[in-house]
Amino acid sequence: MTNNPLRLTVFLRDYTTLRIGGQAELWQVNSIDAIRQATVEPFKVLGGGSNLLVSDKGVRERVIKLGHSFNNIAALNGTTNFWIGAATPLPGLVRRAQRQGISGLEGLFGIPGVVGGAVIMNAGTRFGSIADTLTEVELFIDGNLHRLAASELGLGYRTSNLPSNSIVVRAHLSLVPSDPERVARAMASVDEARKGQPKNKSAGCAFKNPPGQSAGFLIDQAGLKGLRVGDAMVSHEHGNFIVNLGSATQQDVLALIAEIQSRVEIPLELEWRGWV
Ligand code: FAD
Ligand code: EPU
Repeated sequence: MTNNPLRLTVFLRDYTTLRIGGQAELWQVNSIDAIRQATVEPFKVLGGGSNLLVSDKGVRERVIKLGHSFNNIAALNGTTNFWIGAATPLPGLVRRAQRQGISGLEGLFGIPGVVGGAVIMNAGTRFGSIADTLTEVELFIDGNLHRLAASELGLGYRTSNLPSNSIVVRAHLSLVPSDPERVARAMASVDEARKGQPKNKSAGCAFKNPPGQSAGFLIDQAGLKGLRVGDAMVSHEHGNFIVNLGSATQQDVLALIAEIQSRVEIPLELEWRGWV
């Protein structure tokens, strides 16, 4: 049963934190064989949808989502080096490591999404990124499984260079023993640094920070907080968050992005991945 992909017609707005995105055929896969079946036609891979700006027209390609079989943190017990399934939600992993007194993931506290998405984006904060603990990944590429060392993934500030036809299936993390209170204290500092971020529908920071600068500060200084196109608005709380007030479209968000980029003197590069 789990060998066959589960095919559903969905609205991608229900699968993205920005709540934007039209129809697509979602292929939920729970085995390598199912991935193999699903990838014979052009596809895109969806993680937690927390860094995506998707077209209101949806996407023509199959959208592949790794199912529960790839949500696996069981091996965390009693070890600090382990393989972890790409569909494992990052917040649960970080909390579980804390409870078990395992250090290395504190800097990722508060980042939504799943492990596969975190690898592709090299998710992180100024307290650290997943690249700090990632040693290896297992990838599905063109019908076969491959293992690549983390050093081969081109991981940088919110970036990696994996080809778009690769699917992260598992990630190998190397963490260190610590104690739960100490890990919790480190997580509290990360949480503190997030206090200024809005709780509205968003996809996190829209732009990367230019070298030595903060995009949020620059947007704030340019007086753009509250700037609005349709239901897309620059958050009053943090200049680098574009929030969806209800029924924002991809076009609203793209127009707002262009306006911000034209009104901030320093070039701002988008952090999000776009599906058009
Ligand atoms: P998605 O958004 O689903 O996908 C991102 C990219 O990864 C896409 O190109 C997708 O095709 C690809 N992808 C996903 N899974 C796989 C896979 N298994 N194999 C191959 N490709 C895959 N990010 C930070 O770095 N730091 C932060 O502090 C932070 N704070 C945030 C706060 C909020 C409130 C929100 C909404 C977002 C925040 N983000 C932050 C952005 C986002 O959460 C991260 O980039 C996250 O790692 C994306 O993971 P995801 O699973 O949601 O990926
Ligand atoms: N600032 C303002 N006005 C604003 C926003 C920020 O003046 O509207 C100032 C702050 O006061 C601070 C500086 O700008 O002095 C930096 O702001 P902040 O501490 O909020 O950090 P950031 O650089 O905006 C980065 C990451 C976040 C991550 C936080 C916490 C990027 C693009 N952003 O934000 O990551 O959560 O640090 O470590 O790297 C994401 O990537 O999606 C994301 C949310």
